[in-house]
Amino acid sequence: MVSILTSMGQNKCTGYLAPLDFELDLKKELTLLGIAILETHGRLFLCEGEAQDVVFAQDTWHDVEKVEYSSISNAAEALRTRAGRWSHYSINNHRRAELVLDKIPSVKIKRYNFLDPIPQTSIGVFSLLSESQMLVSPKTNCPLPFGEIQFNEDKINPPSRAYLKLWELFTLYNIRPLAGQRVIDVGSCPGGWTWVLQTVGCHVVSVDKAPLDPKIAALPNIEFLKESAFGLRPQHIGKLDWFFSDIICYPDKLLELVTRFRDSGLVDNFACTIKFQAPTDFETMFKLKAIPGSRIVHLSCNKHEVTWINLKNNS
Ligand SMILES: C[S@@+](CC[C@H](N)C(=O)[O-])C[C@H]1O[C@@H](n2cnc3c(N)ncnc32)[C@H](O)[C@@H]1O
Repeated sequence: MVSILTSMGQNKCTGYLAPLDFELDLKKELTLLGIAILETHGRLFLCEGEAQDVVFAQDTWHDVEKVEYSSISNAAEALRTRAGRWSHYSINNHRRAELVLDKIPSVKIKRYNFLDPIPQTSIGVFSLLSESQMLVSPKTNCPLPFGEIQFNEDKINPPSRAYLKLWELFTLYNIRPLAGQRVIDVGSCPGGWTWVLQTVGCHVVSVDKAPLDPKIAALPNIEFLKESAFGLRPQHIGKLDWFFSDIICYPDKLLELVTRFRDSGLVDNFACTIKFQAPTDFETMFKLKAIPGSRIVHLSCNKHEVTWINLKNNS
């Protein structure tokens, strides 16, 4: 078996997988970051060099190789020597790939409950390009296939599906407030995020111009302020462990708002949705990313929006 390094003579090749329908955003971000794209396969972009932190990559594949194989068993053997557990990204030769999967330890797609433990070991991914060649990465960023998590959803209690964004952040990324902490949720109506924060034991200051769903407003430990978030003064709100925002506004308005709260020194951590109009405001996204302690991710349930996280202990 011959193993060929990809990228036409380059030493390292990284795969960035775009979220469904966001291939153009990933392509633009890669270009802005100066990352050379070598090949694309569906929503997978194979790029030159070591893996970098790319927001519109739902998952990142490290050390991608093109590997020649001569049979199903031969492909399975090549994979087994490279990683312990595998997922398959389907481009071509689907039936053949299933036969390979039958011969290797594979990651089963399953539904998780909120705050279920997520396996911590990294997984490999392969993709058959033809009957004799496959793409192989022994290590991906996310321990779940394609950077996606599927939940057993709660169809009864939350008043909107926005709660899934916090479920994902808290469960898959393990980024969450502690019980007893004081948090603010701006742009909170009808109350999906406020509900999640309340269920994990936080004291929630919930702010929106529109009213909360009465079922949520009636829960304990929620103080609702019916006003514009942009008129809020941090000194009037007081000390906060977390600032959450899912507010609909232009990214530069969000940057202004979080800068005011950061500068006050009264907030420790932030988790905010950056919502884009078309076109995507990369300039403001990069400004938020550059704030010390920041990270931006595209959650599985983010559409044309991403999630900015700023943690005090990461600064
Ligand atoms: C996507 S919804 C939030 C959904 C919410 N996170 C949930 O889980 O149910 C965006 C919210 O931003 C609110 N909003 C827009 N402009 C606002 C402002 N200036 N101040 C406060 N809320 C605002 C809207 O009223 C709307 O309820």
